Amino acid sequence: MIRLFRANNFRCLEKVELELGPRFNVISGANASGKTSLLEALAYLGRGKSFRGASTAKLTRHGESEFVLFGEVGRAESTVTVGVRNSREGLEVRVGGENAAGAAALAGALPLQVIDPEVHNLIAGGPELRRRFLDWVAFHVEHDHLAVWRRFRRALKQRNAALRARSSEAAIRSWNAEFLELAGQLDTSRRRVLDLTIDSLKEHGLQLLDAELGFEYQQGWGREKELAEALESSLDRELQLGSTQSGPHRADIKVIYDERQARKLVSRGQQKLLASAMILAATETAQAALERPLVLLLDDPAAELDGESITRLVSAVAALGCQVVATSLAPEALVFPERPVMFHVEQGRITAQA
Ligand SMILES: Nc1ncnc2c1ncn2[C@@H]1O[C@H](COP(=O)(O)OP(=O)(O)O)[C@@H](O)[C@H]1O
Ligand SMILES: [Mg+2]
Repeated sequence: MIRLFRANNFRCLEKVELELGPRFNVISGANASGKTSLLEALAYLGRGKSFRGASTAKLTRHGESEFVLFGEVGRAESTVTVGVRNSREGLEVRVGGENAAGAAALAGALPLQVIDPEVHNLIAGGPELRRRFLDWVAFHVEHDHLAVWRRFRRALKQRNAALRARSSEAAIRSWNAEFLELAGQLDTSRRRVLDLTIDSLKEHGLQLLDAELGFEYQQGWGREKELAEALESSLDRELQLGSTQSGPHRADIKVIYDERQARKLVSRGQQKLLASAMILAATETAQAALERPLVLLLDDPAAELDGESITRLVSAVAALGCQVVATSLAPEALVFPERPVMFHVEQGRITAQA
């Protein structure tokens, strides 16, 4: 939970300070007033990157040379400060007053999730977003997931380099042992995490879409096959392509639904609801493991949704017990179970409303 937030020279925000409520916060304002910029700034403090996919350089206010973000994050009985400064010297991260190492330190201190108007890409887009979705939960639930994931990436890179260099088959096989070991660990950890999340996924699917959905982990190589075997049988092809074709870097989550539901899922609004169900389930699972409320950022949640769907989404979000910061052109469209703390943005300036 974030209590106090300050941003300096982030996008259109010259200097803003917010005292956020522990439950529901709503930021209203006209188009291009700075609502998304504010959420992007909050998200940056918890991720070290933009959810809009913008490069860090683009985030500094025009004409300025650096941006600074700061937050006071409340834990059960303590407060930890989190700060980020991006200047010509690069990104500086501080957690609890000490220099910290990058995005992982931020994510540990200020775990958050985002539902924005692009969230439907989690369903409509390629598998990478769905792998990232699962790895985010794993990062918070399994203490060594990030370390394993990083070592796996390195092993994959080395094996790919050997393939591209057209090294001898023996040389390529010499990379296999480490690759297989780490792939196995990553695979096991992701399966465990999906198992842990599955009830919440189904429940939120039912709640938001009235649909009985299944979620299946696809490991990234042929079903019923050992990865070692898959590597062996595709070696010729891998040498041609210069990259490893089988492994957890090719994994995906398949959403399973019947014919009748498939027709419903073609619309962008329905995809947004399904993706939101996934984000809420991930939030719930991480929250249970961390034993503290996370922050959920909702950028224009009403976009693409009809009245009934907005109501469903808002009540599912409220039931999670997390801290919510939502933006809206029309704040009265978001009806939370208790009165939210309200802010109004105008040309990058924020005022708290009584
Ligand atoms: N680096 C930047 N420096 C200054 N202004 C910016 C920067 N990046 C974006 N903006 C401006 O910020 C304004 C607010 O954008 P945004 O936060 O997306 O608005 P909203 O979500 O309220 O519609 C836009 O007018 C945009 O041009
Ligand atoms: Mg916006």
